Amino acid sequence: MDVTIVGCGYVGLVTGTCLASIGHTVRGVEKDTKKLKTLLDGHCPIFEPGLQELMQENYSSGQLQFTDNIKAAVKDAEVIFLCVGTPPKPDGTVDMSFLESAAKEVCDALAQQNNEYMATLVVKSTVPAGTNRKLYNFLKQQTSAYVQVVSNPEFLREGSAVKDCLEPDRIVIGGESPEAFRMMRRLYDPLIKREENFMTMAWESAELTKYAANAMLAARISFMNEMTILCEGYGADIEDIRKGIGSDGRIGPAFLRAGCGYGGSCFPKDVAALEHISKAVGHDNLFVNAIQTVNKNQKRRFVEKIEQKLGRPIAGAKIAVWGLAFKADTDDIRESAALDVIRYLLDKGAKVKATDPKAMENMKQVFKDEVEWSADPVSCANGTDAVALLTDWPQYTTLPFRKIAATMNSPIIFDGRNCLHRDVMRETGFQYYPMGRPVVENTLRLKRA
Ligand code: UGA
Repeated sequence: MDVTIVGCGYVGLVTGTCLASIGHTVRGVEKDTKKLKTLLDGHCPIFEPGLQELMQENYSSGQLQFTDNIKAAVKDAEVIFLCVGTPPKPDGTVDMSFLESAAKEVCDALAQQNNEYMATLVVKSTVPAGTNRKLYNFLKQQTSAYVQVVSNPEFLREGSAVKDCLEPDRIVIGGESPEAFRMMRRLYDPLIKREENFMTMAWESAELTKYAANAMLAARISFMNEMTILCEGYGADIEDIRKGIGSDGRIGPAFLRAGCGYGGSCFPKDVAALEHISKAVGHDNLFVNAIQTVNKNQKRRFVEKIEQKLGRPIAGAKIAVWGLAFKADTDDIRESAALDVIRYLLDKGAKVKATDPKAMENMKQVFKDEVEWSADPVSCANGTDAVALLTDWPQYTTLPFRKIAATMNSPIIFDGRNCLHRDVMRETGFQYYPMGRPVVENTLRLKRA
């Protein structure tokens, strides 16, 4: 099929590349000249495992093309994806201006061409309930072009987006037109393993499904983070509780890992938006409010723990921060726990050294020379009073900890992701503070004393 993707950001590029890889002809429209040049040069502007290779393969075969000419790109398109950003406004509501102007531009282009066949306009961007219906009504007034609108929320995770796109748990399509539903069924056919995984529903249900999914996952994390306070109060272990409840088929094990709070470009934005969407129908959503409060408090609690357990005043202390990305396998720092934690540490007068395998350049734009930057975790820990681990990069679990301990002023690790092995910490002489788990004492130091 002929597919156009308007907006080659994260979602647009992954979706376009994956659709090209299953045989569709995909044209990506990108207005940002710098990003377009990168794409036309055959490079992937973002770091996402597997994307660069798949993109290059389909770009060189011509299955995937890029342009800034929206008019030419929509000419033969049967399906047009709108993948532009819907960022939060300062008051937490959603900024719809990019989506509205992209839709208008597409319609103007379609109207000028007097196409007789139907084009399906697909809203991939996360939008408040009611947006697709409004967009459809707006287009009916604005254009003589034969268009249908469907909502097709995305459920990709950064770090595994290509896999999530090619092996989806479910494909949700919201709309009112059986013809458009059939078009989407045809588009996604190679990815549909079981018929019940392709779901059609009303626009509003699809829109709210996206917010509900992210809020539910964020709620699970915040619930577990809240439980870490009880675990620390009673000497219980949150990891045992995770296994204990995750094995219940009704609960399941996913998204129950406690730590110093969730981040990223999605959970914080979508949970905040859900609060506003609730207010718009006169409901004060206390539950959604609590998810966010717990998340914010958890980062502060992590820094308070450092302050209490450091064994020296935090003002003037040197803290090594390992991990700046909001999670492993990405260079994305949006709403990353490290942003808050580093700010709190600096405000308390600590000196911060920081490192990350992928996200350091992005974080440098934020903290510039307020932070000392280190190329790797070993040199980052050198001469510091403690390590604060904030991203669960797998390579941080296999470091030469004994060597690292010997170079620190005091070998203490505060693990904000609960990803290090307790036995390794014990055997390498660290004082180890995870979240909601019993402390590992520095027995080597005790033995020496
Ligand atoms: C999330 C959803 O998982 C995707 O389904 C959705 O499509 C996407 O948002 C979106 O709306 O676009 P993403 O933000 O890429 O994906 O990352 P996640 O893997 O969900 O992680 C989000 C945050 O939760 C990270 O900071 C991670 O460290 C944290 N997390 C995750 C935990 O603290 N504990 C867990 O058990 C899992």
